[in-house]
Amino acid sequence: MNQKPIHLDLNENHLLADEYYERLLTLDLELADYPSEYSEDICERLGKYYGLKSDQFLVANGSDMVLDTIFKTLVPSDGVVGYFEPSYRYYTFLANRNERKVLEIPLESDFTLPATTSYIEDIDVLVICSPNNPTSLAMDKKHIESLLDKEVMVVVDEAYAEYSSENCLTLLSRYDNLIITRTFSKAWGLAGIRVGYAISKARNIMLLREDMMSYNVNVLSQAVAVSAIDNQGFVEEALERTIIEREYLTEELRYLDFNVLPSEANFLFCRPSHDIGSLELYERLAEEGILIKAFEEERLKDHVRITVGTREENEELLDCLEDIV
Ligand SMILES: Cc1ncc(COP(=O)(O)O)c(C=O)c1O
Repeated sequence: MNQKPIHLDLNENHLLADEYYERLLTLDLELADYPSEYSEDICERLGKYYGLKSDQFLVANGSDMVLDTIFKTLVPSDGVVGYFEPSYRYYTFLANRNERKVLEIPLESDFTLPATTSYIEDIDVLVICSPNNPTSLAMDKKHIESLLDKEVMVVVDEAYAEYSSENCLTLLSRYDNLIITRTFSKAWGLAGIRVGYAISKARNIMLLREDMMSYNVNVLSQAVAVSAIDNQGFVEEALERTIIEREYLTEELRYLDFNVLPSEANFLFCRPSHDIGSLELYERLAEEGILIKAFEEERLKDHVRITVGTREENEELLDCLEDIV
């Protein structure tokens, strides 16, 4: 067994070049001073990166904290956060810790957005995860637009959008009720610095800032995030390689008789069509030092989620799978 397990269970990104991290670690830091209150330097860099204004960004300690602030600020104290299920289960925790209720709205059997929209009457904020974790599918943009037209506040969690051919950025100028959340944890390969952000109309961002703890992103993380944007070429190169690896892994898994959904993220959602159950598959791989994500929920329990790794990690996974299935 390997000394250190291979983590293909957390959707981290291990495909960035060593030189990227070397550059981010040679920063000139003012550790005696407080960081800027609302990560103004990051907001400014993001503004340039997206061609938007710096006051359209709310930066926080991970996009989890951004979502936490959105639920606290935009959902009344007896209000309801709606989200589609299956999705990122942490939404429930974040809503509940703010004493907000949750309505889980089932996705269709093919994991697309439901045709009915009657749930809108029962919720205050709707979260759409696209590409969706764990199904790896991007949600239909026209459908998202039709929900925005209903004037409910819509949060599109785009934690994995860099891996997708679709995103909701072009809708920002048209809709006051749209907030997009993104993160440095995935495509930017910086889960360790805990920096995520929201993009919206400046008025929404102002409201959110009023409710969020200032100074919540430390000097080190702010400097690393700024430098990452300045070194975005490395991220683009890793993105291209991830997409090549994603195609490779998809094809090889299909060859091993796995049913794999066409992924728009840095992970694959698949169902082994063998006698072996997903939990047993998880256990057998864990014995070999490879961790993937298995699910307990009834609707997902035949599926596993596998993060796209480096070519070496992917080959090691495929070698083990060949022996197991
Ligand atoms: C869909 C989704 N949203 C948000 C997050 C949290 O991201 P962050 O690391 O920025 O808090 C994750 C992390 O896995 C995620 O999968």
